[in-house]
Amino acid sequence: MNPATVEFRHVSKQYGAQQGAAVVDLSLRVPAGDICVLVGPSGCGKTTSLKMVNRLVEPSSGQVLIDDRDVMQIDLTELRRGIGYVIQQIGLFPHQTIAENVGTVPRLLGWPKARIQRRTEELLDLVGLDPALVRNRYPAQLSGGERQRVGVARAMAAEPPVMLMDEPFGAVDPIVRERLQNEFLRLHRTQGTTVLFVTHDIDEAIKMGSRVAVMQQGGHLAQYAPPTELLAHPASDFVSRFVGTDRGLKRLSLLRVADVRLESGVVARVGESLQSARRHALEGETSWVLLLDRSDAPLGWVKASELVGDGTLSAESLDASSPLVHLETTLRDALAMLLTSAVQTAVVVDEHGHFSGMLTFDELGHAFRTDPEPEAVAVL
Ligand SMILES: Nc1ncnc2c1ncn2[C@@H]1O[C@H](COP(=O)(O)OP(=O)(O)OP(=O)(O)O)[C@@H](O)[C@H]1O
Ligand SMILES: [Mg+2]
Repeated sequence: MNPATVEFRHVSKQYGAQQGAAVVDLSLRVPAGDICVLVGPSGCGKTTSLKMVNRLVEPSSGQVLIDDRDVMQIDLTELRRGIGYVIQQIGLFPHQTIAENVGTVPRLLGWPKARIQRRTEELLDLVGLDPALVRNRYPAQLSGGERQRVGVARAMAAEPPVMLMDEPFGAVDPIVRERLQNEFLRLHRTQGTTVLFVTHDIDEAIKMGSRVAVMQQGGHLAQYAPPTELLAHPASDFVSRFVGTDRGLKRLSLLRVADVRLESGVVARVGESLQSARRHALEGETSWVLLLDRSDAPLGWVKASELVGDGTLSAESLDASSPLVHLETTLRDALAMLLTSAVQTAVVVDEHGHFSGMLTFDELGHAFRTDPEPEAVAVL
């Protein structure tokens, strides 16, 4: 099924006359196929907002729209079948086996048995569980992390256009959580559903979200932006405190070497004449030249002062002290490598190991400090 857009239009929710509002005038649009993370302190209205999408809670005012249709106008059964839901406390059916749990929605949709079985096995496999080992067990016979995987598999079973995930990885240790996050991102890339994901952990929000909605006590939306923009331009003191004082470093972990300006540096190739290498070093005003092999893979550094005489360059007496980073390396990892290597420059290679440029400390500092232009975000 194609992913759907989800939109909140001036949505408010008040549970009772005696208490304050749980959600106040929430407006945001999640483009089809995006992962929108709702993040904020306990009680700020995250779960309430999710539940207004599948009508477990009805808005007091305003509208929630899926593909521009008001959810209040959609037949409830049709609505819920089109939405995968992972609830805060996992919520597997305790008296059903793992396979039965995962096959819940396909069964409701009347899929033939063989197709349900195939899909169940495929999903268990995708979330990293061995179908042969777990399919006939009951939820109580799995660990907490395994149960969460089953919860995710069940929500994805019928490839719903929308998935609601309420703290889906909340109850596991940080290592398992990281694995589940990575698995989910990988799954999402292949299946492409629109996801609304709730967490109270800002690091998880930044990692998982293509857009992050920061909510504040009292049910107010404090900011809605892509993670890099959130980190570069917190809209208020509250957001700034919530993302943390290390937001510059967090931003580095979202950017990759390919995202920054690389210097071309001065290079020479094995077999090139010393005379020409000398000229390049002189023109580039550098005291070190990077030597590449015949297929452009970096070999190491040659001192410009040693480029004397008439011969050709060979791969002898090289100084290979620079860290080697890939275009896909995060700037945070690149920074860590530079900090431990005591040189100011890293050599960058592409996926084939060919030289792509040099990453300098200055450029990293620049990426750390520069605020990108705020991206236009559709907030109604
Ligand atoms: N069924 C309900 N009846 C009355 N009040 C409710 C109900 N559900 C939630 N609330 C109140 O609405 C507010 C928002 O609750 P909600 O569950 O949406 O918060 P949350 O952001 O998901 O919090 P947490 O991070 O703790 O899960 C809270 O003040 C809560 O007490
Ligand atoms: Mg909640």
